[in-house]
Amino acid sequence: MEKGLADLLGPESVTEFQTHYARNEPVCIPHGEGELRGLRDLPFLQSLESLLARWPYEIQAHLPDLRDESSAVESSAADAPKLFRNGMGLLFNDVDRVSGELKEWVMNLRRDLGLSELTYGRCLVYATPDGKGTAPHFDQNINFVLQIHGTKIWSMAPNTSVLNPLSRHTMAGEPDPELASYVLEPLPKKMPPNAKQFSLAPGTLLYVPRGYWHSTEAAGDSLALNFTFTAPSWIDLFTTALRSRLALSPEWRETAHDSGADRFSDLLETLVSDLPNWRAEDILSVTEGDPSRDSSAQNGNLRGSR
Ligand SMILES: [Fe+2]
Repeated sequence: MEKGLADLLGPESVTEFQTHYARNEPVCIPHGEGELRGLRDLPFLQSLESLLARWPYEIQAHLPDLRDESSAVESSAADAPKLFRNGMGLLFNDVDRVSGELKEWVMNLRRDLGLSELTYGRCLVYATPDGKGTAPHFDQNINFVLQIHGTKIWSMAPNTSVLNPLSRHTMAGEPDPELASYVLEPLPKKMPPNAKQFSLAPGTLLYVPRGYWHSTEAAGDSLALNFTFTAPSWIDLFTTALRSRLALSPEWRETAHDSGADRFSDLLETLVSDLPNWRAEDILSVTEGDPSRDSSAQNGNLRGSR
């Protein structure tokens, strides 16, 4: 089968999905028994045991107190079953490392979503014991969840406190200083009353928008495959390009001293006079490596700054 967004969405058209994507709304798509078999039949996803038997890396086990990724210990595949039986959720990170198929899916989905080449895309697998799950939080990532075994109940609510967060936040914790600097209203400590429930049976796909509140609880032991994309913001593209540009200058590379305010001021003035020559296309030709975007780069200053 093909391995792209249209295949993942199945009965939902890409155009319909794009409408929800643009509005930052979740999308839940149940797939029939015969659908997405290429993913659901991957040998290492047949059971937790088959995954553990093929997993050479560390596994993150979530402590039952906070029910959150921020409260976790590293475990080996040998120790993980005991932790799972004791009620701890297991997270297998970067699962595409062990599967060329998944690597292809990640690459194609990033392309189909139109995300930057600087995006960190990967697969995660969550093994969650019956009755356990994650506490309310949002992620800065774009996420697709495919339920493989068991059922998981997702509770989801729009986030009115912050738009386009740059970091993850769990309701039980305090926001990091940067996040706290741009929240629009105090962050809630429990799921908002307008939260909707989605029941993910095997084969159900859920799109979890960036920054959307969610919490989960497994009904029966659960195994779920995630496609997760940490995509750069315009801030990231601009600061990447800016650093590349400034790194070419021996003056900007000087060690900063507290007696150098005049020197710094001169450098900023030079930068300000340079900025009118910057073009979005030139920056994108550097960050996205697309030669077709490079034709107008002569006017800018990024050409050759890689
Ligand atoms: Fe999450």
